[in-house]
Amino acid sequence: MTLPATPITLEALRFFRTPQGEELLTEAAALGTDELRASQILRTRFPADLCRAALALVQLRQTAREKFSLANHMYFDREGLEMASREEISTYRANRFQDCQTVADLGCGIGGDLLGLAARFRVQALDLDRVRLEMARLNLRAAGLDAALVQADIRHFRIRADGIFLDPARRQAGRRVRSAEDYSPPLSFVQELRRSTPAVAVKVSPAIDEAELPTDCEVEFISAGHQCREAVLYFGPLASTSRRATILPGPHSLASTPCPAVPVAPPGSVLYDPDPALVRAHLFDELAGRLGAWKLDPQIAYLSSDTFTPTPFARGYRVQTFLPFNLKKLRQFLLHEGLFPAEIKKRRFPIEPQELRQLLDLPAHGQGVTLILTRIAGRASVFICVSATK
Ligand SMILES: C[S@@+](CC[C@H](N)C(=O)[O-])C[C@H]1O[C@@H](n2cnc3c(N)ncnc32)[C@H](O)[C@@H]1O
Repeated sequence: MTLPATPITLEALRFFRTPQGEELLTEAAALGTDELRASQILRTRFPADLCRAALALVQLRQTAREKFSLANHMYFDREGLEMASREEISTYRANRFQDCQTVADLGCGIGGDLLGLAARFRVQALDLDRVRLEMARLNLRAAGLDAALVQADIRHFRIRADGIFLDPARRQAGRRVRSAEDYSPPLSFVQELRRSTPAVAVKVSPAIDEAELPTDCEVEFISAGHQCREAVLYFGPLASTSRRATILPGPHSLASTPCPAVPVAPPGSVLYDPDPALVRAHLFDELAGRLGAWKLDPQIAYLSSDTFTPTPFARGYRVQTFLPFNLKKLRQFLLHEGLFPAEIKKRRFPIEPQELRQLLDLPAHGQGVTLILTRIAGRASVFICVSATK
């Protein structure tokens, strides 16, 4: 869904807090998705700019429900919502500051992280953007929380706190930037912060280049809903390992430890598809050690074993058949066995799942199976599997 870019001004925020403004928001929410019709109805009673802002906010609140349980009572602008940390992650991450009394939230935006931090600590929150700060204030209030909010440039503000959480903006003129040195403020600014406050955590893109990751910190990849959502760098007393993968809800955390390299061997009767956070953190050896599993190929992230051990760090599959990939033969095999691909997964395989589904052109009846497509020792291969539960 394309989110509305309509600016929500301080005046609009102020109006929304009045009884008339609340009435406008309630009516805008009740009018449904036909924006033109809604706008025509509302404009008979309210100024046009406030109607546009109300309709935009209603749409943003709907989208925000995926991130925040209090979304219907919160305030957002499009970018602020897109950049905001989801509630389950900010709550989890706040626990990492457990030895601090006071925390500075630098670049607090609409307050996604602030909600998690302010529930546990005394927080000073900074942002350059006056409107976002006001949204953060209202969002804290909606949750019954409070913090000291300051409009200031992080780079020129003297921070006094036991711990710092920095979430730099990763966009310029609405576009995502790739390099961590193009963030605002850039990643290297961390070194300046650490001079006065050793306990610093920084949120970075989960797609950050390995080469840009500092070596003197813990790097944690966090996934929720089987997607790697965030990467966080922890410095000083906040760091407790070099790499960590954390899966929410849980939290289930796997940290890097010295362990033997996972061996490579032919497929067994069980296949594991590691969680994306674990793949990003390169914790295969640690996971394989726990599962008694091995790799199928040095380059491929699937693990295999002959016994299934349930784990939050990977999805497990029981292998029914393993074949070299050949479209015609795969189709014939599935048809003959009365199977259809309920799920298709791939790693380092040239055909996209949706394209393969179309090429196979199979009726959706019979037994649903998972097809896992990959390359083993340079050969395209397919596993026909069912999900392992026990
Ligand atoms: C990624 S967003 C923060 C999202 C927030 N942690 C949340 O969960 O809602 C980054 C914020 O940093 C602010 N920002 C960027 N550069 C800044 C600077 N030099 N000083 C203060 N704030 C800054 C932007 O206005 C933006 O709101």
